[in-house]
Amino acid sequence: MGFAALAPALGASGAGQEPGAAAAGGTGLQPTEYALPPLPYPKDALDGFLSAEILELHHDKHHAAYVQGVNKAIADLADARAKGNFDAVKGITRNLAFNGSGHVLHSLYWNSMSPKGGGDPADAALKQGLEASFGSVDGFRKHFGAASKAGEASAWGILAYEAVADRLLVLVAESHQQMGFHGCVPLIVCDVWEHAYYLKYQNRRADYVDKFFDVINWKFAAERLAAARA
Ligand SMILES: [Fe+2]
Repeated sequence: MGFAALAPALGASGAGQEPGAAAAGGTGLQPTEYALPPLPYPKDALDGFLSAEILELHHDKHHAAYVQGVNKAIADLADARAKGNFDAVKGITRNLAFNGSGHVLHSLYWNSMSPKGGGDPADAALKQGLEASFGSVDGFRKHFGAASKAGEASAWGILAYEAVADRLLVLVAESHQQMGFHGCVPLIVCDVWEHAYYLKYQNRRADYVDKFFDVINWKFAAERLAAARA
């Protein structure tokens, strides 16, 4: 389970180089700035589930703000080291976790949905994993749906792979970075912050979560599971 498993969806601005590839080549870390990745489909591609207006605001404004925030936190920490003044390190480290997690989760969220999504997973390994961990694919849907609907305030539903026990888990992240299970690799995420759905669903988060399964991108989950277990 390498960092490369997370890299493809993160939009790092390095010259087309995947972080994992640099490490494997023995050339050492080459940190880059975080960058806003483009949506993997046109803004109206999920119309019927989410409008183009929602995707435009969510991607171009909200996600972009997290990218700016994580880059600022990195710069602020470099400035603190340069000045030898760590008086603000606690708050900056919180900003790093909040904005960095926000950037990663949104990058995964766009790919967790597809206009060709929904139905049951075609990939045998993913289907077997869901059955082994949740009893059935429908058992996963019920668990993930309930957890996402119950997430307190601004939260995320997350299907994750946990390598220690070789199992799939449903997690909930409050805000972006709280209630984490370290080492887990997120496969599918559902943003249940109000900005993700309010313009269409108002206070009906449950309706939004139920319809998420109509666009869920099993292919993306299967690719990430295979990479995480490699
Ligand atoms: Fe969001």
